[in-house]
Amino acid sequence: MSGHSTTQRPSLSDAIKETTQRYVAANPRSQAKFEEATQYLPGADTRTVNHYDPFPITIVRGKGSNLFDLDGNTYTDFLGDYTAGLYGHSHPTICAAIVKALEGGLTFGGPHSNQHEFAKLLCARFPSIERVRFANSGTEANLMSLSLARVATGRTEVLAFEGGYHGGILDFTGPDRRLNASFSWVMGSYNDPAATRELMSRHQDNLAAVIVEPMLGGGGCIPGTKEFLDTLRQESERIGAILIFDEVQTSRLGPGGLQQNLGITPDLTTLGKYLGGGASFGAFGGRADLMELFDPRRKDNLHHAGTHNNNVISLSAGLVGFRDVYTPEVAEAHTNRGEQLRARLNLVAEKRGIPAHLTGLGSIMNVHFQRGRIRRREDLLANRLPTDLFHLEMLLSGFYVARRGFMSLSLAHTEKDCDRLVKAFDTFLEQHEVALGFDLA
Ligand SMILES: Cc1ncc(COP(=O)(O)O)c(C=O)c1O
Repeated sequence: MSGHSTTQRPSLSDAIKETTQRYVAANPRSQAKFEEATQYLPGADTRTVNHYDPFPITIVRGKGSNLFDLDGNTYTDFLGDYTAGLYGHSHPTICAAIVKALEGGLTFGGPHSNQHEFAKLLCARFPSIERVRFANSGTEANLMSLSLARVATGRTEVLAFEGGYHGGILDFTGPDRRLNASFSWVMGSYNDPAATRELMSRHQDNLAAVIVEPMLGGGGCIPGTKEFLDTLRQESERIGAILIFDEVQTSRLGPGGLQQNLGITPDLTTLGKYLGGGASFGAFGGRADLMELFDPRRKDNLHHAGTHNNNVISLSAGLVGFRDVYTPEVAEAHTNRGEQLRARLNLVAEKRGIPAHLTGLGSIMNVHFQRGRIRRREDLLANRLPTDLFHLEMLLSGFYVARRGFMSLSLAHTEKDCDRLVKAFDTFLEQHEVALGFDLA
């Protein structure tokens, strides 16, 4: 950058300082609530990803595609709770299902018909799922699948990938892994089939499971290549390891999840997020011969416990949502709509010649402020300043997105919502063109 004067042009850190001041001025009540809550919750927080500097807004209500905060601001919600909010806020069909469930009693200590019907539907929709079990979160579904794989194979090691996210204690998106569950991890490189093949051969006698997101979600919305995922399928079969597709996010990307689009059938699949209709949810399922180990009629059955495994609210909201709202046709149309939105956003950046690019598939996407193609986790630059700035500016313009630039399209979004998002992104790029252009060049 030696040819440019650095004295006059605005830098990204200057821009963030100025934007933060505007953000603080716009959110006095949220700031006060945040400070008070630090007395009771560590950092006022009970889900780390919900925190961002200088403090997060406190949300009071959601309706359709909108969120409302304590200071009276309205946001168009393009976070969609990291894909759990597929249906938008208070979808009438789901609300009705929840009210009906409430009236019939909440916690039974026994089976109920929603669990039967929802299980049947999941088996019908997802190609790999012959039998399914419910849990309370995606994390729990992954933990159960990994434990099942160890029992079924009599082996101990698990292959996971750098950049993968499978839950708060199964997190490979950053360097700090102190909280991770202590499985015997073998770490592989995402979208590197040759290195993965070699790694799997080296561990072929000890590998119980391979766990992978068919698209890295928390790791930056990087789709797995067909070649990479095919390699995992072939090699795990060859060495007798269980292939687990974590489709907690990606199961929405087609009528039968990303596995159906790719034509790859894993041994086990894990689900969560939107499939609870907005309530807490997890599920894992797959090959009948593996899942039948949980059949309580067997003498050697595996004991799968969990007070709320068949939570009445989650299963009724989830069933109605997936059966009556997110039908196969809607899943396809919504995925196409997401593709179009991402293309429009990318076009805006391209036209302005600014190094910004959205990765993702269908209704799930992530903006990255850098040049060049992003195919591997290693391609991502570590610079967080542009996404911090993007996040604060989008909040100030009335768009709720993730700090890391993650966004998802919900069923509640109108075309007008999408048009406004595209316009706001263009305005942001125009407003910070110089800082973004120079700092990222
Ligand atoms: C791909 C993936 N797997 C698992 C999880 C964990 O799900 P939960 O937060 O319900 O435990 C998440 C959550 O973000 C996820 O994105």
